[in-house]
Amino acid sequence: MVYQNILLETKDRISTLTINRPDKRNALNQATRDEIVHALESLQSSVDSRVLIVTGSGDKAFIAGADINEFEGRTALTQREAMKGLRIFDAVEEFPKPVIAMINGFCLGGGLELALACDLRFASDNAKLGQPEINLGIIPGGGGTQRLTRLVGEGKSMELILTGDPIDAAQAKGIGLVNDVFPANELRDRVHAVAVRIAEKSPIALRMAKEAVKTAARTTLREGLSRETDLFCFTFGSQDKEEGVRAFLEKRKPDFKGR
Ligand code: COA
Repeated sequence: MVYQNILLETKDRISTLTINRPDKRNALNQATRDEIVHALESLQSSVDSRVLIVTGSGDKAFIAGADINEFEGRTALTQREAMKGLRIFDAVEEFPKPVIAMINGFCLGGGLELALACDLRFASDNAKLGQPEINLGIIPGGGGTQRLTRLVGEGKSMELILTGDPIDAAQAKGIGLVNDVFPANELRDRVHAVAVRIAEKSPIALRMAKEAVKTAARTTLREGLSRETDLFCFTFGSQDKEEGVRAFLEKRKPDFKGR
């Protein structure tokens, strides 16, 4: 597939998916969403790719939400049709490798919902984050009411969703919405450094760790602990576990092969 709306590159085990509609503040239209799903499917089984960074093109926006042009005149029924099939938010959340949102500006509506589906979020100090759907007479529909509430709690989530007002990066860090904030001109390097550290780990252990942590919000403590035990034991079936343990005992750096 030749992409028109995204850029995808993989280098040194790190893939970067860039939404490339800077003139439209990287708003997500259907074509862009289709390309994102396709790109995720293509990366899923790639052994060259161990960590994915998602970002937006240009210096203004990560993603300014769904493309509002596509909402005009749309009925409840056609909107329901448009939301069938694999959705980008679920595709990112279920992606078996770590996904980092590199938030380089406006991160609104579906943009914040996409960031919420990622595993880690890092923002530039000039980023603005919010769920402004209420201003259009609608509500977040890409998981915002659920993932935002799970991440920051009901009070802060209500405030963002009911007022529609964006918050700045420092406020986002204060409520745990982003992991960290970096000066805009350092964002790329700082996020890349985190990605490099993660890409050195065992891809099998990363996958199990991601699934185990995700389970916490989806089930009871008892079921989650049981799932964790299964996934923990599963890592003992990997050559990477032998390599990791041996490397520690031999006082050297492990070389994880993902087997
Ligand atoms: N959908 C469609 N087009 C969008 C868009 C969106 N979500 N966000 C921005 N754009 C377009 C604008 O219409 C404009 O297009 P034009 O040049 O053809 O007129 C272009 O992107 C630039 O936007 P502009 O508003 O001029 O840029 P800005 O830097 O002054 O402001 C935002 C940026 C993000 C604050 C502002 O565009 C905005 O509020 N966007 C909508 C955010 C939103 O409500 N998202 C939730 C959607 S459910």
